[in-house]
Amino acid sequence: MRDHFDVAVIGAGAAGMMAAMTAGRRGRRVVVIDHAKAPGEKIRISGGGRCNFTNLRTAPSAFLSANPHFAKSALARFTPQDFLAMVEARGISWHEKTLGQLFCDGSAREIVALLTDGMAEAGVDLRLGQTIEKVERRADGAFGVQLAAGLVTAQRLIVASGGKSIPKMGATGFAYRLAESFGLPLVETRPGLVPLTLDPQQLADYADLTGIALPVSVRAVGADAGQGGGRKADKRPAFREAMLFTHRGLSGPAILQISSYWREGETIAIDLIPEMDLAGHLKTLRRQAGRQQLRGVLADFMPKRLVQLLLPELAKVAGKVPETPLADYSDAAIGALVGALKDFTLKPAGSEGYRTAEVTLGGVDTKALHSRSMEAQAVPGLHFIGECVDVTGWLGGYNFQWAWASGFSAGQSA
Ligand code: FDA
Repeated sequence: MRDHFDVAVIGAGAAGMMAAMTAGRRGRRVVVIDHAKAPGEKIRISGGGRCNFTNLRTAPSAFLSANPHFAKSALARFTPQDFLAMVEARGISWHEKTLGQLFCDGSAREIVALLTDGMAEAGVDLRLGQTIEKVERRADGAFGVQLAAGLVTAQRLIVASGGKSIPKMGATGFAYRLAESFGLPLVETRPGLVPLTLDPQQLADYADLTGIALPVSVRAVGADAGQGGGRKADKRPAFREAMLFTHRGLSGPAILQISSYWREGETIAIDLIPEMDLAGHLKTLRRQAGRQQLRGVLADFMPKRLVQLLLPELAKVAGKVPETPLADYSDAAIGALVGALKDFTLKPAGSEGYRTAEVTLGGVDTKALHSRSMEAQAVPGLHFIGECVDVTGWLGGYNFQWAWASGFSAGQSA
């Protein structure tokens, strides 16, 4: 068995396989090393088994990083259309679900097979079930990867071992430790795209809502901004998607999205009726059906159990009791009521952590990497790609697009 290669890739995930295939196609002798028994395990379980493999709306603004400009180069060099062309060439049928999100019609396994077959055709040596004992730079300039099964050396080393999310699937902090051992800086890591938890009192208050989902618009509000504050200064985006009440707290796409921006101690501001001009609607109803009460009116466009829970507080904010007919609401009372529904704030206790997080925020600091090649500036020949780098996408196929793009960039230059 060969033990010296042009390129060694650590991690047979999305980024590593793309890099290996790309380098192999350029005629480089490539080995991919993984401790898992199967390649692309996260691809296999992604998107509910259908893999949300890219997003047509990919733009640098859909990624979080200490340096928002870093991802631009790789994202421009390998676009969603480039990946889609591979999917179509392979005959994999796909559909756009919503918001530019592309999924397989059949199974995520088709994407795994696209990559493993692509690697095989490019002559890539895939070594699974390997334990990496040590990685070092040797006196001859090559990288030595000491496996329990023997030593592998390579002129270039691409680290694609992912982040810390879902440790049950074998996620480790390997890439971060390796980066540190080569003197590279890290941006603090934390779980992203993760459900948020509520404290026991809040959970008791909202117990009846478990299982309820509704469309909302949600944003994170700085700890010192107060109710409704911080909107102008705070540049973090708001997300208009579904929110779900769970027995632990809050989930659903809107919450997963905002979790990447939310920090411990902050509140989230939720617009519970993002899709309509509620004030206008209430004023019309006041004229046309003034005897109606708030309960019935709100239940037309919000889940009944949520209306039931919020009703006393909403009426109080408007200076009324729940039974007050709409005809007795002044414009100011309607304004106060609508304000409370459009700026409903909650203070999450925390998040569910890496156990359920889809991604890891932070990671290898991009200021230490070249944006075209993902190569460490201080350690020529050493590349970091995919989730272990401090570039994290929104929910919706952006993270795979980053894996493909950063993998392609490294594979082109390694
Ligand atoms: P990835 O984690 O895929 O691969 C890392 C590889 O390195 C693994 O094969 C692992 O075994 C290996 N490895 C780790 N430590 C090692 C060590 N010490 N030695 C050897 N090998 C090691 N994104 C998206 O865009 N669309 C989607 O639909 C989803 N869905 C989704 C669902 C769920 C449940 C999760 C958890 C995540 C998603 N994601 C997603 C996120 C997406 O899966 C993630 O961003 C990419 O898989 C990251 O690709 P990487 O190749 O960087 O790491």
